[in-house]
Amino acid sequence: MKDDNFLRENNARHLWHPMAHPRDMQENPPKIITGAEGVKITDLDGNRVIDGVAGLWCVNLGYSNDAVKEAIARQLTDLPYYSGFGGCTNPMAIEASYAVRDFFAADGMARVFFTSGGSDSVETCLRLARQYHRLRGQPTRTKYLSLKRGYHGTHLGGASVNGNNRFRVGYEPLLPGCFQLPAPYLYRNPFDETDPARLAQLIVQMAEDEILFQGPETIAAFIMEPILGAGGVIVPPASFMPAMRTLCDKHGILMIADEVITGFGRTGHWSGSRHWGVKPDMMSTAKGISSAYFPVGAALMSDKVAEVFETAGADGAIFHGYTYSAHPVGAAAVVACLKETLRLDTAANAGPRGDQLFAGLQRLQDRHAIIGDVRGGHGLMAGIELVSDRTAKTPLDAAAIKRIHEATYQAGAMVRIALNNIVMSPPLVITEAEVDALLSALDAGLAAV
Ligand SMILES: Cc1ncc(COP(=O)(O)O)c(C=O)c1O
Repeated sequence: MKDDNFLRENNARHLWHPMAHPRDMQENPPKIITGAEGVKITDLDGNRVIDGVAGLWCVNLGYSNDAVKEAIARQLTDLPYYSGFGGCTNPMAIEASYAVRDFFAADGMARVFFTSGGSDSVETCLRLARQYHRLRGQPTRTKYLSLKRGYHGTHLGGASVNGNNRFRVGYEPLLPGCFQLPAPYLYRNPFDETDPARLAQLIVQMAEDEILFQGPETIAAFIMEPILGAGGVIVPPASFMPAMRTLCDKHGILMIADEVITGFGRTGHWSGSRHWGVKPDMMSTAKGISSAYFPVGAALMSDKVAEVFETAGADGAIFHGYTYSAHPVGAAAVVACLKETLRLDTAANAGPRGDQLFAGLQRLQDRHAIIGDVRGGHGLMAGIELVSDRTAKTPLDAAAIKRIHEATYQAGAMVRIALNNIVMSPPLVITEAEVDALLSALDAGLAAV
């Protein structure tokens, strides 16, 4: 291992960091995280803080789950890799497919296609949605509907349905035939609508207008996060996802629930869709599927979708896949992680701890005028929207938000900046005292500006 000074001086010399300017990373070196235990991380400078973001919305079990670590180590000894291509598979892949299918059986999911992460899972759903329609004799159904402020990863398909311009402009032209609806975002929406049910109605009406304008026979799928994460923890009105489900059915459009963040207990339910009482046609998952102990994701298909592929002729073959689809070590991580997720009943902890976090943030709003909006209250996903003027809702400038982020870290918690929001998604095993500590650190961070 290189010494500390070497690491500090060279961290961005050859390494390009995701979602960052390479020069900025050279001039303002990122934190070098060297260790982790429970829900806390340690950096090279010796700081030990609560990980208020679970890595990147993913380390749901925290950093010290021995059962998952041991399962991975065992699998590395038994079979470190074999491909799922060319008529081969491995025992752990089969077991993992049962574990994942069983986990989402109540959501109507029947089949599992393993990937290496969330972007892969989204891409898999988008591609298979087109193939599904082609197999049903509707090859003109190639377009996608999605939501502004939605985040669906960074592959070309995912970026095309993304609803945040920052992830799009440098990479255009993206896929043609992708249309974004306004986000079901109460705090800011084009209608200045503050009634949740009415806002949902307006956006669903816009969706139907767009579908009819494009021609329903041209639209393959609608994709949404049950709660929008990277867009700043936007919680849709309760009626929104069910109404979109009805609309998709009316026009023969597949509904893809992007559960990369919301799956596996984060919302206080085992899936975000279940939280809203919706059964999607496909689900993209990752993150909590292995609690990030190994890079894995999965695309899931309902019976309705599976049947079309499984009863098709030669065209039903899936010419899509990844070298690491159903990687045996990843599959072992999934089996162990889901067993632990159920044993620890992490969704049951996410509910009350999420309520505690949300209530604490509301108290902070009384003390800090820069908090324009507080969002959450549905498990362990929460966000505060920072403004310089509450009445005008002027977004707080980026430099001030960075100062709050750093001051919060120095006070004992890692949080995450998303646009002009600070978002939190701690491990689902976080305790009451640790949520209080996270809130105190954020309180101190907010006081810094
Ligand atoms: C909803 C959603 N979809 C897809 C992705 C992409 O996942 P990954 O970064 O694993 O490719 C993310 C990542 O945060 C996400 O939040």
